[in-house]
Amino acid sequence: MTKKLFIKTYGCQMNVYDSERMAEALGGQGYVETATPEDADMILLNTCHIREKAAEKVYSELGRLKPLKELNPELKIGVAGCVAQAEGEEIMRRQPAVDLVVGPQTYHRLPEMEARVRSGLPALDTDFPAEDKFDHLKGRPKARRAPAAFLTVQEGCDKFCAFCVVPYTRGAEVSRPAARVLEEARDLVERGVREVTLLGQNVNAYHGGMTLAGLIRELARIDGLERIRYTTSHPNDMGDDLIAAHAEVEELMPYLHLPVQSGSDRILKRMNRSHTAESYLQLIERIRVARPDIVLSGDFIVGFPEETDADFEATMELVRQVRYGYAFSFKYSSRPGTPAAERPGVDPDVADDRLQRLQALITEHQREIQDSMVGREMDVLVEKPGRNPGQMIGKSPYLHSVHIEGGTAAVGDIARVRILDAKTNSLGGVQV
Ligand code: 5AD
Ligand code: SF4
Repeated sequence: MTKKLFIKTYGCQMNVYDSERMAEALGGQGYVETATPEDADMILLNTCHIREKAAEKVYSELGRLKPLKELNPELKIGVAGCVAQAEGEEIMRRQPAVDLVVGPQTYHRLPEMEARVRSGLPALDTDFPAEDKFDHLKGRPKARRAPAAFLTVQEGCDKFCAFCVVPYTRGAEVSRPAARVLEEARDLVERGVREVTLLGQNVNAYHGGMTLAGLIRELARIDGLERIRYTTSHPNDMGDDLIAAHAEVEELMPYLHLPVQSGSDRILKRMNRSHTAESYLQLIERIRVARPDIVLSGDFIVGFPEETDADFEATMELVRQVRYGYAFSFKYSSRPGTPAAERPGVDPDVADDRLQRLQALITEHQREIQDSMVGREMDVLVEKPGRNPGQMIGKSPYLHSVHIEGGTAAVGDIARVRILDAKTNSLGGVQV
């Protein structure tokens, strides 16, 4: 009998990938995905623990979902992902409607856990098992799929930035063997994928028998795989061979997410980042020499403990020097168990004000870079039909969303597009 599965995904792209693999794992138990929680027999929240707000959202969602159990006595509710890893049993104590808790490294055990909750027992698994979950997940189904896909190649982190939960929720740095990654990539290409984004919390530290640059060169040789991206990287792992790949590998897209977090050396030191603002700027310079048109993106934290006005100005100055095409900035959020959690934070109003100023500056640069695309011709990977008749939506090499008018391009095509206008979150153009 088919049962219905509803998965809601929070947080990063790796969670998006994991949700897909969890749905596949439960597919073997007769589950098909549904888009609404109301008709589900199993609801999984795949959660994020990176900031306090992200974690709290999970509990409010669980509160909203709980009444559905009265309507459908067969309904089971599970919490997966990083909140599951960090809080474990505590989740079931705080919300007794939860039947199942599974961490990011044990979801290959979901079929057994599902059977257990069906028999009326709770199931909890937040181990860091010795075995690799990917070896235990069944082969991926053969169905056609969207032209752009995520592919996890590395997980976990050994860097221990003072603010960050990732080393605790995702565990130590582990790379998947290159042969496995290549196999999965070939399989994705057979199913219609033309662009892969290689995922890892520290993806450029990849060492699955070769470096990330080596892996990218191997992937580029796969027929039909036209575009390669990777995220997220740490400045200290940006090897010479990876920078060279940006100059030499045509399939490697001219976009790089390279978080710096702060422009103040004093704060970087307290964050345990082991790089300086200057070393980061020099690195950016070398990357731009290799690939002059590259669009950069970054992450920033404002209001980190002891951040002064002068520290914040240093961040603004770094942003002015780099000119990011996109950037994500966050107010510091104290996370239990991290070294910085013990330190007194900055006044919340001051942090709010800094966040607004930083975001305004970043938006200005984002807008300028988008405007600079107008008049250019570029290859756009067509991903889906748009709202207007004949309109298609795709991605530029620089990760801008592009609305293509009046062309003949189909989903999965790479269309040559002349950009005619730039809006806040997208570009518009015509097929040439
Ligand atoms: N508070 C605020 N932002 C954080 N990030 C990570 N941990 C925290 C925290 N405790 C941000 C960093 C990271 C991004 C994924 O989230 O900028 O790069
Ligand atoms: Fe959130 Fe980090 Fe877990 Fe991704 S790895 S879901 S960003 S806590």
